[in-house]
Amino acid sequence: MLFSFMKKHVYITTFGCQMNVHDSEKMAGILEQEGYSLRDNPKDADLIIFNTCSIRQKAEQKFYSELGRIKSLKKRRPDLKIAVAGCIAQQQGRAILKKVPHVDYVFGPQNIHMLSDMLRTNKDVVAVDDNPEIAELDLPVSRKEGVRAWVSIMYGCNNFCSYCIVPYTRGRERSRPSENIYREVAGLASNGFKEVTLLGQNVNSYRSDVDFSGLLKKINSIEGIDRIRFVTSHPHDLSDDLIISMKELDRVCEHIHLPLQSGSSRILELMNRGYTYEDYRRKVERLKDAIPHISITTDIIAGFHGETDNDYMATINAVNDIEFDGIFAFKFSPRPGTRAANMEGQLSDEIKSERLSEILEIQDKISFMKNEALRGSVQEILVEGVSETDKGKLTGRTRTNKIVNFRGTDVHVGQMLYVEIVEARRHSLEGRPVR
Ligand code: 5AD
Ligand code: SF4
Repeated sequence: MLFSFMKKHVYITTFGCQMNVHDSEKMAGILEQEGYSLRDNPKDADLIIFNTCSIRQKAEQKFYSELGRIKSLKKRRPDLKIAVAGCIAQQQGRAILKKVPHVDYVFGPQNIHMLSDMLRTNKDVVAVDDNPEIAELDLPVSRKEGVRAWVSIMYGCNNFCSYCIVPYTRGRERSRPSENIYREVAGLASNGFKEVTLLGQNVNSYRSDVDFSGLLKKINSIEGIDRIRFVTSHPHDLSDDLIISMKELDRVCEHIHLPLQSGSSRILELMNRGYTYEDYRRKVERLKDAIPHISITTDIIAGFHGETDNDYMATINAVNDIEFDGIFAFKFSPRPGTRAANMEGQLSDEIKSERLSEILEIQDKISFMKNEALRGSVQEILVEGVSETDKGKLTGRTRTNKIVNFRGTDVHVGQMLYVEIVEARRHSLEGRPVR
């Protein structure tokens, strides 16, 4: 009782991608060892961590407005500690302390392991050094869910796509030893997890003692893990060998997230992506030939500097031609310090918005059509939990990563069920369990 009264509380708010969500799980893992417990409300916390994202300006603005809102809380409780982590922390470092005096700690994505030491110092700690040893660290991870888990396999990125801030914030590519990854996933299997997603900025350029196909083979041998996924793949590094491994390894799911970014080879060149649209198209063909039911999702950037009507039409044609299962599309956001930020031909926000909504509108129709085609089929679903909107329903995914909702009770969470698809929506499916 006394112990729980004395326990310290932390509130972590996460912006941006899955990588950041997983980094927050690592921060929580370290802090639990330090006697902290997680809270859902900043008002209940002794320590508040903002795990920030700088991939687009919008995420940055959102962070600064949330940070501003915490100011009054800190005024009332000066003992409250505030930390800024993630990519904005990495980029701006000490400048954050100057700009926002109510911040106590600043640490980047390569310095999460220093969290315990930092907290022992009272104020004004900045940890944003490049960390070449990051791949050798095995940080504790506090995972909320018990069915699906995310596992880092590599850190950083060497690609320097001209629009992207990531190589500057997360540093050079470094792969974890395959043995350490194997051990982590085997541990997850013995704790009842059924699915792992291998995480990295560019997973298919993973290389340690084995390459990415070799790693998949190793993980595929772990009893208890029924499904293996991975994000994100770079089209340039998608080898035939990897396609064959995906086809042959029974636990590797039939889904790939393969960011295209633009359908115009001219723009792809300006983006420094290292492939043409034709190259990409050929890889998609090979994937579909090897794994006919594979689902392919992608990222598209609308309104890159200098994107002409013709370039834009090339993207529209690509979306219509490839028929992706899903698209994450974004308006181009020039990031200070990247090469693209200084390129000619900036487009108005209005044109970017128009192009973005047209892409999404076209994709919505395609997604719906693809979902419709599944109606009447029976799918293997890994039940992830009870639906948030209807407590009488369960939610899970097909191997191809499509969300399916159906009637059921929580005894089935973590189980693999067969479900007939009875209705299609744009972003999910409705099902009925079958024997
Ligand atoms: N502006 C818009 N979108 C971007 N992305 C990365 N950088 C930018 C930027 N400056 C998108 C890319 C990438 C995804 C994670 O975010 O599409 O694949
Ligand atoms: Fe950014 Fe390109 Fe690296 Fe992805 S591959 S993180 S878009 S630089």
